[in-house]
Amino acid sequence: MFARETQFLKGVVAMDGLPAADRPEVCFAGRSNVGKSTLINALTGRRALARASNTPGRTQEINFFEIPDGPYLVDLPGYGFANAPVAVVGAWQRLLKSYLSGRQSLRRAFVLIDARHGVKAVDEEILALLDRSAVTFQAVLTKADKVKASEREKMLQQVRGKLSAHPAAYPEIVLTSSETGLGIDTLRGIIADLSAE
Ligand code: GTP
Ligand code: MG
Repeated sequence: MFARETQFLKGVVAMDGLPAADRPEVCFAGRSNVGKSTLINALTGRRALARASNTPGRTQEINFFEIPDGPYLVDLPGYGFANAPVAVVGAWQRLLKSYLSGRQSLRRAFVLIDARHGVKAVDEEILALLDRSAVTFQAVLTKADKVKASEREKMLQQVRGKLSAHPAAYPEIVLTSSETGLGIDTLRGIIADLSAE
């Protein structure tokens, strides 16, 4: 599935701009700068498909990417970003929350967590929303290359502990690095399975 060329479909700024919910879809949520856009590029093998950047708050729309005959991959605006104007943050957050709680074709939300930092209070807000909306979510640890092997297991334990309080959490956590490719094939397999259901 991922051998086919993924295309950018559209950027959406309001719920009425969403494409028809006529195929499976998975989304990538997480704090600003956690590596959502970079992960989509790694999954699709396209270096600059989703715009990634060192500046938190880079992705300001809900961006839809289409795998031919496959699912939509949805790149969400980051949350927990301190330096954007309050009004702008308010608008993104509302859109993010409406999307996460009301999208029929959403098969799973991948919630990205920086492997150096673990689950933060702003993540908990989103996880609680996913619980309430009964959207199954799966934690994906990013930037594993920045964490010593000995620290990784500790972080996995921390995240596992936090997830255990969330009924919508899928138990398996995926450890990834877009730098080394760790976990990328695993995640491709998970997405392919979800799309075939
Ligand atoms: P917003 O769109 O602002 O919400 O950010 P984002 O979550 O899309 O993050 P983005 O993909 O733009 O990545 C942020 C920064 O982290 C970039 O400088 C990436 O190169 C870097 N980055 C992402 N993934 C990894 C990774 O696995 N390892 C390392 N070392 N750096 C990474
Ligand atoms: Mg982004």
